[in-house]
Amino acid sequence: MDRVLGGGVVPGGLMLIGGDPGIGKSTLLLQICQHLGNNIKIFYVSGEESGRQLKLRADRLNVHSDNLYILCETDVDTIINHIQKEKPGLVIIDSIQTMNLAALSSAPGSVTQVRECTSAIMRSAKAADIPVFIVSHVNKDGAIAGPKVMEHIVDCVLYFEGDRNTSYRILRCMKNRYGSTNEIGVFEMRDKGLTEVENPSMMLLSGRPHNVSGTCVACMMEGTRPLLAEVQGLVSPTGFGNPRRMATGFDYNRLSMLLAVLEKRSGFFFSNLDAYINVIGGLRLDEPAADLPVALSLISSLKDQAVKDDIVAFGEIGLAGEIRSVTNIEARIGEAARLGFKKIIMPYHNLKGVSNRSDVELIGVKMIKDAYEVIT
Ligand SMILES: Nc1ncnc2c1ncn2[C@@H]1O[C@H](COP(=O)(O)OP(=O)(O)OP(=O)(O)O)[C@@H](O)[C@H]1O
Ligand SMILES: [Mg+2]
Repeated sequence: MDRVLGGGVVPGGLMLIGGDPGIGKSTLLLQICQHLGNNIKIFYVSGEESGRQLKLRADRLNVHSDNLYILCETDVDTIINHIQKEKPGLVIIDSIQTMNLAALSSAPGSVTQVRECTSAIMRSAKAADIPVFIVSHVNKDGAIAGPKVMEHIVDCVLYFEGDRNTSYRILRCMKNRYGSTNEIGVFEMRDKGLTEVENPSMMLLSGRPHNVSGTCVACMMEGTRPLLAEVQGLVSPTGFGNPRRMATGFDYNRLSMLLAVLEKRSGFFFSNLDAYINVIGGLRLDEPAADLPVALSLISSLKDQAVKDDIVAFGEIGLAGEIRSVTNIEARIGEAARLGFKKIIMPYHNLKGVSNRSDVELIGVKMIKDAYEVIT
């Protein structure tokens, strides 16, 4: 959590946490209370749950701080009065969609209410230098529900994501006035609450199929942290009409572009084939360095030829089919070596800057074709 926030909570900071229903927003915040409650007084304002329900959860999570005060209230004026009177060190609002300003006629959760409640809470908290966490629901597309202006007025926007079917959760920072926005926090949801996953790469690679075509391990940077992720590609004959392309965890348009480059520049034909890309573990690969592993997993599936288990790849692909250099080479190589990989397929132009290692073989490639030769 500290890493995602860029070091920790800033006094007077306003932090918005969004996430799907039941993903664990309230759990995360209640656990924060246990950590911070040793030193400061915390106000947990809940408009969604009763005191008894919160107590049940707190017991399960082993949260028993004497400094934690629960306020089950939805009227913002009352909440602000309490804040001004008690001067807590941290305020948690769960959730902004349930909050209500009596002066406004619209219903709680409406655009006006959400905007005005956020502003009112912000004004009183900033004046007293009190940091505030605000939980917000997300809409169907996964964006924070309510007016966009809410994201502008807060200092920090966090998204809590994860696959419903796995117990792993990723906390991602979309906006941060006091730190980097590239950091992620990886947690596991257990019955005792969220615990930090110290070795996310190992977690993301667990259960990887061996010697199966259509999978390739990528080495990505998430902030300052290198992370290994498995990219899976599947190519199959189109039933009828237009070929279908689908990307989960990877940009759809980028996938279309890569398929075009593979056809035009490298002679791998996908035009009458459906192509699917899936990144394991609910991770999103937004970095250009993911191009090469995505291309390799597609080629691997096309040729039905497995990429060997001990290979990691990264590199950006240009429109001419060339492999372009990427940043943070040493960190990526280090992470791959730490997890026991033996060969790294990387941009040729990146080889210059790195020292040779005895534990991994660095294979510089200039074109997609060269990379394909390495895996065959
Ligand atoms: N006994 C339990 N053991 C393991 N996991 C549990 C247990 N009870 C709850 N959970 C997990 O906690 C999740 C609910 O967490 P939480 O209530 O913090 O979510 P939330 O994001 O605040 O949801 P909402 O949007 O409804 O407020 C459940 O989806 C489940 O994964
Ligand atoms: Mg909740």
